[in-house]
Amino acid sequence: MLNNIFQLAPQFLHKLDPEKAHDIAISGLSLLPKMSTNAWKCDSLKIQFCNMHFNHPIGLAAGFDKNAQACAGLLNLGFSFIETGTVTPIAQAGNAKPRIFRLPQNKALINRLGFNNDGMQSIKMRLKDTYTTYLPDSGIVGVNIGANKDTSNKVEDYIIGLKTLMPHAHYCTANISSPNTPGLRDLQHEKPLHNLLESLCKTRQGMPPKHQKPLFVKISPDITFQELRSMAHILCQYPIDAVIVSNTTISRPATLISSPHNNEMGGLSGKPLYTLSTQILAQFYLLTEGKIPLIGVGGIRDTHTALDKIKAGATLLQMYTGFIYEGPAIVKKIYDGLKETIKQDNKKHITDYVGIQAEHIAQGS
Ligand code: FNR
Repeated sequence: MLNNIFQLAPQFLHKLDPEKAHDIAISGLSLLPKMSTNAWKCDSLKIQFCNMHFNHPIGLAAGFDKNAQACAGLLNLGFSFIETGTVTPIAQAGNAKPRIFRLPQNKALINRLGFNNDGMQSIKMRLKDTYTTYLPDSGIVGVNIGANKDTSNKVEDYIIGLKTLMPHAHYCTANISSPNTPGLRDLQHEKPLHNLLESLCKTRQGMPPKHQKPLFVKISPDITFQELRSMAHILCQYPIDAVIVSNTTISRPATLISSPHNNEMGGLSGKPLYTLSTQILAQFYLLTEGKIPLIGVGGIRDTHTALDKIKAGATLLQMYTGFIYEGPAIVKKIYDGLKETIKQDNKKHITDYVGIQAEHIAQGS
């Protein structure tokens, strides 16, 4: 019954304004309690990643449940992990509406939300120790942190985020790649990146051991190979546990089918982001010689695109736009598809595919 409602939800929700539809979905999902994940246990898909256990590789990317209102309901849909946020120290309204646009012909979205969120204290109260202590087996809940638009010290905002929220989540992601907060992506440049990573790693080291959780960094697809090489080199110098590749793109790939919203300002996600983000992922995997675990995100919408992200170098996956267009059934479809492919290929485990086509994908061939 519940499943039927959620399978039909996209048809109904896509008739509404995108942000209204999103708010309704969050309200509905926030009513669901956490249920058993036993249906999602298969040895060939279970993954140990940064000392955390994942039932399978498919997670929900940051930005859908910005305020940690529906983590239990979303885990119920079958995701093995949810990344809540981006959360900033102080609550902020974000940019003027409308600020999310559907490009249905392209199976894409453009958003310029600008980190609208309830602020760290509210998210802390919602997370408290719910997932890490009281519901330890219900799935992984990470928290993605960022800087307020009007902050005078961006690095300080990340430090506050880490101190406030890392104790209450399974992992923490520093988002330095949103295109909708002016100057945020500058943190990816050499000096600011060193400064941020050093501050974050020191802060974590100074926290009580039980609060020292894995720390991830999420990067942009809009970088040159030179910039990517420099970032890879810098990231390898710090105890960063994983890198998420990638956020949305401000580019408009030539493959975009003409549609009314193509030229809206903001980050493009979904199908047209797939090739760019997968190529950057493969390049990053090769540049770091597979030494940093990677989470692949950008344009995943079926088993094929999910598996290719893994072949490019990802161990875990996240999706957002594919979930919006295909509905919740997409999680089970990819889960079953990956399980079946492993069997057909006579492989033992999903990690047997990690990076096996990185060279080929990195060259864009
Ligand atoms: C996002 N994304 C995002 N990422 C992030 O780190 N913090 C955020 O707050 C948001 N917010 C957000 C809102 C909306 C409406 C969208 C569509 C996306 C980016 C998201 O996590 C992901 O990296 C990209 O969307 C690429 O994945 P998909 O959508 O192609 O699967």
